Amino acid sequence: MSFKSDLISGLSKKNKTIPSKYHYDLQGSKYFEKITKQKEYYPTQKEKEILIKVSKQIPKLFEGELSFIELGSGAIDKIKLLINKNVKYYVPLDISLDFVKKSVIKLKKKYPNIKIKPKKIDYSKPFKIPNFKKTTKVYFFLGSSIGNFHNREEILFLKKLRKSIGKNHYLFIGVDLIKNKKILDKAYNDKKGYTAKFSLNLITIINRIQKSKFNINNFYYNGFYNIKKKCIQGFLVSKISQNFKIGNKKFRLKQNEKILVEISNKFTIKSFKKLASSTGWSTQRIWQDNQKYYSLFLLKS
Ligand SMILES: C[S@@+](CC[C@H](N)C(=O)[O-])C[C@H]1O[C@@H](n2cnc3c(N)ncnc32)[C@H](O)[C@@H]1O
Repeated sequence: MSFKSDLISGLSKKNKTIPSKYHYDLQGSKYFEKITKQKEYYPTQKEKEILIKVSKQIPKLFEGELSFIELGSGAIDKIKLLINKNVKYYVPLDISLDFVKKSVIKLKKKYPNIKIKPKKIDYSKPFKIPNFKKTTKVYFFLGSSIGNFHNREEILFLKKLRKSIGKNHYLFIGVDLIKNKKILDKAYNDKKGYTAKFSLNLITIINRIQKSKFNINNFYYNGFYNIKKKCIQGFLVSKISQNFKIGNKKFRLKQNEKILVEISNKFTIKSFKKLASSTGWSTQRIWQDNQKYYSLFLLKS
């Protein structure tokens, strides 16, 4: 599906929605990087705390030369914590390639002996995994991106990924945990307003790609933890009643009508273990930060 058809399909629903992958143009990726640096946004801090622990164990976990393959790498900040002398290849795969390429330049300078091969993919569609013979391939899916799938599509994603990478490979996956609503609400409503800017940037992207003329000031961001659904829901809310067109299709947004633009499902250790095994993965190891806010799973296909 194209951006236009995804927009038409999502905005035609009773509860309007737009897939979150469309947030990530260059500016969107920059805003996301800012979010990860905010004090309130614990997932990055906690995942890094865990990765520092894990980095000491990597040489014992995997023998021989390694290829690191990272899905949705973003600013490739976390992988740096894990690189050791056995890593021969690093492949960041992301929908926002221009952003990733900027970070790759710095990484190449720091690690001239590692072959770094960024590639643009959309992991919600079928994609090819690069094959580096004679190295042990280790996959990464960090930043709790597994929580961003709508309608339980993470089930299909994990099944397809296992099939395409084949048996006996390893995947590190960052999983954010259910916790006190106040902590979650704060994390997705940072004081400096980067989460709001990140969400509202979607309006700018729609205007640019669809040549529409939405006024960004006619929307505001509203994000909170929905205890019943066990997920963060981020909405763009229309301040006014407005008519608009995508292609030839006419739409109407009522005053205060919401468009769901971001979702972040939260798990328990038990519920994620169950999800992994129901999609054919076996859980090898689980790490948590000291406060048990966040977890990192090592899965085997
Ligand atoms: C939540 S951010 C996590 C970024 C980074 N891994 C981290 O831990 O901070 C999601 C990342 O996945 C990328 N992304 C989102 N949807 C994607 C898709 N469908 N296909 C490929 N990359 C995607 C975004 O560009 C972004 O870099």
